Amino acid sequence: MANPWFESVAEAQRRAQKRLPRSVYSALVAGSERGVTIEDNTAAFGELGWAPRTAGQSATRDLGTHVMGQDIALPVVISPTGVQAVHPDGEVAVARAAAARGTAMGLSSFASKPVEEVVAANPQTFFQIYWSGSMDQIVQRMERARAAGAVGLIATLDWSFSMGRDWGSPRIPERIDLKEAVRFAPEALTRPRWLRDFLRTKRIPDLTVPNMQDPGTDAPTFFGVYGEWMQTPPPTWEQVAWLREQWGGPFMVKGVTRVDEARRAVDAGATALSVSNHGGNNLDGTPATIRVLPSIAAAVGDDIEVLLDGGVRRGGDVVKALALGARAVMIGRAYLWGLGANGQAGVENVLDVLRSGIDSALMGIGVSSLAELTPEHVLVPDGFTRTLGVPA
Ligand SMILES: Cc1cc2nc3c(=O)[nH]c(=O)nc-3n(C[C@H](O)[C@H](O)[C@H](O)COP(=O)(O)O)c2cc1C
Repeated sequence: MANPWFESVAEAQRRAQKRLPRSVYSALVAGSERGVTIEDNTAAFGELGWAPRTAGQSATRDLGTHVMGQDIALPVVISPTGVQAVHPDGEVAVARAAAARGTAMGLSSFASKPVEEVVAANPQTFFQIYWSGSMDQIVQRMERARAAGAVGLIATLDWSFSMGRDWGSPRIPERIDLKEAVRFAPEALTRPRWLRDFLRTKRIPDLTVPNMQDPGTDAPTFFGVYGEWMQTPPPTWEQVAWLREQWGGPFMVKGVTRVDEARRAVDAGATALSVSNHGGNNLDGTPATIRVLPSIAAAVGDDIEVLLDGGVRRGGDVVKALALGARAVMIGRAYLWGLGANGQAGVENVLDVLRSGIDSALMGIGVSSLAELTPEHVLVPDGFTRTLGVPA
């Protein structure tokens, strides 16, 4: 390809689709069941509009902000995703890109790279945990992240083990052994650049999850840990508060869409919450996160840092979320497409596309800093918002 630079997240996605083996690409598309939520996450941003200005704007705009104890250069944080088999450098490439662009990295406990390597690449790393295994195992994984230098903890609470999507799920083997490699070979051979990147490292993706390793054992497989997680009873809010206390530092609850639960997150002592529906991969039929953000921001915005993730694909989406009450957003697929398209440089490219999109949206509406944004900067059509978890 003559010019590896791309101008939009949509183009990054097209390139990732061309470059990645079909099953790897399809694992990133993800979604669940009918796809109502994944679709609404992006479509809802398109329903919001602007009232532009044409003269009198400030010549410069300040995009910096402060989230979970960290100063970041733009209001976009890397949302945790298990980046299995997308690129040999996986989450380390993402962490380097985020560090190069001055922002923080959420590292999934299902990641393919150890937290120590990721923190070395980006000291602004938050470690994400699921409620999986015994309390001792959860604390031990948390303590390992702390020892590695992670500066925040993200507890992702929204998952209900929904199975299946109408457009089909990729076949994910338990482990890549010789038999699986032979089975996968025809697919991989159609993607020579992806294959070349892995062959250069003399390693094939092994689908293990090193950050879920118990002391004295090998890194478990993705499926082994998924089974453990399915058998773990979901936490109570008292247990969430307990974990927050054990951690002691900046703590985010990820996956809240109800006002009553936003209040529980505040009561549990969380520093931040992310209004999230897991990028539409969980319970299908929940509203787009941008539709529920205003009610949550109005209820708890003064008591906790409110973030949003789900459907962010352009800088204008970021500005809309901030205007409706978020302090920052987190991105998932947007950076995964960048990573799939062009490795670390592709993630940097996505962050640059978002950065310039934020800057031009701010200029267009005549705002010179993020703190000035209010709901009045966005045209919200009647019937757009949803309020969950407030007694009628
Ligand atoms: C392939 C994939 C894997 C994900 N893995 C995790 C995970 O391990 N932990 C987590 O908290 N969220 C995970 N998520 C959800 C993201 O953190 C985030 O909530 C979501 O991707 C945001 O929506 P977006 O992709 O539209 O930006 C994953 C999402 C995708 C697409």
